[in-house]
Amino acid sequence: MAQVIVVGTQWGDEGKGKIVDLYARKADVIARFQGGNNAGHTLVVEGRQTILHLIPSGILHDRKICILGNGMVIDPDVLLQEIDDLCEKNLFPPDTKLYISHNAHIIMPYHKSLDKAREARKGTAKIGTTGRGIGPAYGDKIARTGIRLCDLLDSETFGEMLRINIEEKNFYLTQFYHDKPLEYAAIFDEYSGYADRLRQYAANTSLMIDQEIKKGSDILFEGAQGCHLDIDYGTYPFVTSSNTAAGSACCGAGIGPTKIDAVVGICKAYTTRVGEGPFVTELTGAVGERIQQVGCEFGATTGRKRRCGWLDMVLVKQSVRVSGITGMALTKLDVLTGIDPIRICVAYKTDNEQFSESVPPSTKLLGQCRPVYEDMEGWSDDLSGAKTMNDLPANAKRYIERLEELAGVKMSLVSVGPGREETIVLESPFD
Ligand code: IMP
Repeated sequence: MAQVIVVGTQWGDEGKGKIVDLYARKADVIARFQGGNNAGHTLVVEGRQTILHLIPSGILHDRKICILGNGMVIDPDVLLQEIDDLCEKNLFPPDTKLYISHNAHIIMPYHKSLDKAREARKGTAKIGTTGRGIGPAYGDKIARTGIRLCDLLDSETFGEMLRINIEEKNFYLTQFYHDKPLEYAAIFDEYSGYADRLRQYAANTSLMIDQEIKKGSDILFEGAQGCHLDIDYGTYPFVTSSNTAAGSACCGAGIGPTKIDAVVGICKAYTTRVGEGPFVTELTGAVGERIQQVGCEFGATTGRKRRCGWLDMVLVKQSVRVSGITGMALTKLDVLTGIDPIRICVAYKTDNEQFSESVPPSTKLLGQCRPVYEDMEGWSDDLSGAKTMNDLPANAKRYIERLEELAGVKMSLVSVGPGREETIVLESPFD
């Protein structure tokens, strides 16, 4: 039995979907603990595509318990659409074990309106959010004005909380953002309908996870986004509004840190970012374009083209430290095939300083940083058939070994193509 957290070590989109799907086969419980439908991964089952933003991909495996933890912010409309979509494809049988924490916060229409209005007002200084209301929903949670699932399920409490929120939010929307006001009655009716459908999934998920641990179950905690979108340790303010680092799994799922056995950090063989914010190793020329195209680097939630750059090990080292990563999963190594040389960023420098262990917290300073690169020889052989490290070209092996040295952590897995079988498994955290 093991309790394993999986997190992204960069700015999200590290290819967590495939790795989580692989590990989900071993796990009995798959729990999300932060974020909302700003995340997203595309799964192909029997030739049919399904995009999940909220439900853990473990839902596609029989008999798995899937949990949406208290640390999440949940848009009920999106969640119910995901359930309906799965039902239509016969992927959500009546005995599906999906549970949502009573304590999870609900994304309301005013969160989405405020997210968009704030971004529009910021103009060129915008964060480039997904526009899904994530920031304002977490803002209300911290301000203690948020509506949780348990509040939504109690019509009287919900009505009172909604009235107070609508009054306040309409003031901001109309007076400050010169936007349209929202209507209480329409939202009350719409969300009461969602409450009726969500009631059956509401549960004390912290207690449930604890009981599973006591039974000896394997549990996978599925992080969303990546460590550098973390509200505390990311490239603030160009971050999401939750803690994406591994420690967040404890608060966001309701279990203690002493229960965690391993933390797997997913690291893409190069770096990408969607949205605005500093990106020291960004490639704006032909190599970046090539990586973007070969790697199909488009956001799963917004469809935006991802910005691409060389692998930045300053970012990864900070993630290893902040998340206590015990093993790495390297993804999309095949995308680098045919590129020579391949550059690894080992430090940042400004006119007066060098940073190799930690990302400078000041956005201004980070914007002035230039990358210090180490060049590695590339390879041209197709990697997709590799089953062991010895099947890889010598230069690909050297690249991996250098990354292990820089990160100070061994690889648990190397992914050499999108298919499940295109994976070199070195160590499973559940064994
Ligand atoms: P928000 O989470 O919608 O508030 O967006 C804040 C920032 O995080 C923006 O730069 C988004 O593009 C980015 N972001 C949020 N979720 C993801 C994700 O799942 N992958 C990559 N970037 C994300």
